Amino acid sequence: MTTDLNTLIAETLTTLRKIASDFSPAVMASSLAAEDMVLTDMILRDGLPIGIFTLETGRLHSETLGMLDRIRETYAYDVTPYRPEPAAIDTFVADHGLNGFYDSIDLRKECCRIRKMEPLNRALAGNAAWVTGQRRAQSVTRTALDVQEQDAAHNMVKFNPLADWSEEQVWQYLRERQVPYNPLHDKGYPSIGCAPCTRAIQPGEDVRAGRWWWENPDSKECGLHVVDGKLVRMKPVQATVTGS
Ligand code: ADX
Ligand code: SF4
Repeated sequence: MTTDLNTLIAETLTTLRKIASDFSPAVMASSLAAEDMVLTDMILRDGLPIGIFTLETGRLHSETLGMLDRIRETYAYDVTPYRPEPAAIDTFVADHGLNGFYDSIDLRKECCRIRKMEPLNRALAGNAAWVTGQRRAQSVTRTALDVQEQDAAHNMVKFNPLADWSEEQVWQYLRERQVPYNPLHDKGYPSIGCAPCTRAIQPGEDVRAGRWWWENPDSKECGLHVVDGKLVRMKPVQATVTGS
């Protein structure tokens, strides 16, 4: 049974108000894509004391960066950007090239670590909870997503208030309330990350098919939402040589 949009909105607002009152200080991580604009609209229109930040990786599309201006124009609010350490970027580029992340999953994860995970740690420091725009229906890696979970990696509570929302409900909210959204969504990009790691999808393709399209679906997470994000490799068992 699908919950109707008004009920979902009321439940989500209740969750956000609870976060603001019981988990202060709390922050919201915005990729500036559709789901995050729903939460941004709710937080700012309700005047909730939840700071909004974005991980400005240095590789975002200009349309995505343009959302910072759209948010300022619409809500008179400045989203806080967190950027990677320049020295770490210099080392990665010197060792592997600017686009070295295409060469292996390990290098892709290393690039995400430098450009997203380390700045995320700074953005979350000192907070009691953080909020994301993840939805259960987005990916095979998110099918068990709860609205509230314990983020052991950051030792704080993590909220996914849109966990139950469908993609259609996200768009119904944005259109009915005339919330600004990333223009890339109208050009075949349902899911938007860094420019070199995101491409448009064809009708009928999975919504995350354009993210890290060269990898398997079960590895397509940048580490922001994976507690044990490393690939586990079993050590080969040493063969015992017997006989004479
Ligand atoms: S990702 O892990 O594959 O990149 P996705 O793009 O689906 O994630 O976004 C899921 C949630 O992660 C977003 O709703 C947002 O809360 C957070 N997130 C992703 N990218 C960023 C970013 N660049 N800055 C801040 N938050 C982000
Ligand atoms: Fe690097 Fe691509 Fe990860 Fe962005 S999404 S941090 S460019 S590997």
